[in-house]
Amino acid sequence: MSELERQLDELVELLRSGPKIAVLTGAGISAESGIPTFRGKDGLWRQFRAEELATPQAFFRDPRLVWEWYDWRRGIIGAKEPHAGHRVLARWERYFPHFVLITQNVDGFHRRAGSQNILELHGNIWEVRCTKEGTIAENYESPLPEIPPLCPACGAIVRPNVVWFGEALPSETLEEAYAASATCDVMFVVGTSAYVQPAASLPLLAAERGAKIIEVNPEPTPLSSSADFAFLAKAGEVLPLIDERLLAGRGQA
Ligand code: APR
Repeated sequence: MSELERQLDELVELLRSGPKIAVLTGAGISAESGIPTFRGKDGLWRQFRAEELATPQAFFRDPRLVWEWYDWRRGIIGAKEPHAGHRVLARWERYFPHFVLITQNVDGFHRRAGSQNILELHGNIWEVRCTKEGTIAENYESPLPEIPPLCPACGAIVRPNVVWFGEALPSETLEEAYAASATCDVMFVVGTSAYVQPAASLPLLAAERGAKIIEVNPEPTPLSSSADFAFLAKAGEVLPLIDERLLAGRGQA
């Protein structure tokens, strides 16, 4: 039996004991769908300067430039599909009695893959927020017919309903994420460089409370050395492997 098979069987045995599960995902889970990550070799922060595009100051200074960038990203995301890894997490939401999905991603792929109860820590690129009234609306227009888009109700410019650098995360969503991390028995950490706070503190909180940490990432991260299971592999490969064993009843049930 390979080391990977041994790890998978040990993990499936843990999962079959009915643990409370939390999952934290980052850009890496959408990489196999063809969506660029932020800090990888061809990551967005290698091609663009975050402070010129993903901050309130940048938007105030040049809303057109910021919206042109988000319109481009929406075009890329809209042309791609969630993959098997996203679909496994959507299935697990129904399979496990206690399951919370927390994501840093704004691409909406978890929702498109069928997940319903998602804590979107950094917002959603398919939502816009009126800069005057604060109202949030879904907007799937791609490309956008006008840039910057305006609020249909009051005519003010709307902004992407995403969290920019220097901004607070949605407080209720963050509270729920902390609560899920503090009470879970198992936390999967999939496709994140575990670098950006406060999301990066969630696995540390879970581990502090005794949860088992399962990392899925082809690259090591600051979390890897303390993870109970570290699968140095792609999300689209490992998550289906775990799911197959879970369904087949393999592993010491
Ligand atoms: N499967 C799993 N992980 C992968 C894959 C894959 N196929 N491909 C790449 N990864 C990993 C990379 O090794 C890296 O550790 O995904 C991680 C992506 O890291 P980042 O690009 O830093 O993305 P993320 O961790 O989500 O960034 C957090 O930073 O810029 C902000 O708001 C932005 O939500 C984002 C936050």
